[in-house]
Amino acid sequence: MSSATAALPAAQAGTITLGGDLTVNRMGFGAMRITGKGIWGPPADRGAALATLRRAVELGVNFIDTADSYGPGVSEELIAEALWPYPSGLVIASKAGWTRHGPGVWQHNASPAHLEEALAGSLKRLRLERIEVFQLHVPDPAASFDASMETLARLREQGKIRHVGLSNVTQEHVERARRIVPIVSVQNRYSFSDREWDYLVDYCQANSIAFLPWGPIAQSRKAHETVERIAAARQVSTAVVSLAWLLGRSPVMLPIPGTSSVKHLEENVSAAAFRLTDAEFAELGAVVPKPYWLR
Ligand SMILES: NC(=O)c1ccc[n+]([C@@H]2O[C@H](COP(=O)([O-])OP(=O)(O)OC[C@H]3O[C@@H](n4cnc5c(N)ncnc54)[C@H](OP(=O)(O)O)[C@@H]3O)[C@@H](O)[C@H]2O)c1
Repeated sequence: MSSATAALPAAQAGTITLGGDLTVNRMGFGAMRITGKGIWGPPADRGAALATLRRAVELGVNFIDTADSYGPGVSEELIAEALWPYPSGLVIASKAGWTRHGPGVWQHNASPAHLEEALAGSLKRLRLERIEVFQLHVPDPAASFDASMETLARLREQGKIRHVGLSNVTQEHVERARRIVPIVSVQNRYSFSDREWDYLVDYCQANSIAFLPWGPIAQSRKAHETVERIAAARQVSTAVVSLAWLLGRSPVMLPIPGTSSVKHLEENVSAAAFRLTDAEFAELGAVVPKPYWLR
């Protein structure tokens, strides 16, 4: 990394290396929120979506998470429109395993035929010959998990995928998948107020697998009072405190906060340089928040 790139805001979070050869700044961007309502169709403000993507890269974000199902196709198309030809070092991580039939409607499909077809569509929309990180979006109860993973392993051998990741999985899935193909990332819902997958974060850390927490801000729900108090005392937003807590939680944590607004993006990326004191971090860690759905 040049000294100019190392000074960029997203680089202040430090870096993480995926699969031993793909180094990115530890503050990514989730491109699910740049689509229409219900993650369906085009965004209400196309100009803002394109500007948000371009601003993310200007701020040093070089890991963008997307999926064929966001839109469907819309998120990947906007990424290509905003950023192609891609700057060197930009990693676009896509996923497959859901099909879409309307706003807010998600249907499993991780059959070998669908995964292969979905990858071909993502490559076309993203204007790429290889996807750097391709994730199984969710195991499909109607398909053999091993068959899904064997398909991704085969596509990797064919050079269409550089690295394979998983999403919405248990440790048992990760262990089973690793017997078939190397796994570089796990993406599950995780945040200060949603720690169901704590044990999987620890497993990923022990095995040098990146953990991509989705819903890292859980902003639509009220922030925990401790987060609110620390945010007020430090004069930052609760989003910044939540993201800083995640970054401090594990060196394999790679947050991918999602937004369709440049203002929120800038605020979220500023968390890369924000450090909680040891006392604040310990206080936050000691809180056992009620899961947000019980509040
Ligand atoms: N693997 C999976 O199954 C899965 C599921 C969900 C998401 N994801 C991925 O994870 C990424 C992040 O998850 P997420 O988007 O659901 O949750 P999130 O990042 O925790 O929150 C996004 C929501 O918070 C708002 N927001 C963002 N920054 C804010 C800020 N600084 N202040 C106030 N509000 C803010 C956004 O609205 P505005 O647009 O108004 O900012 C949006 O409604 C997604 O973009 C996607 O790439 C993966």
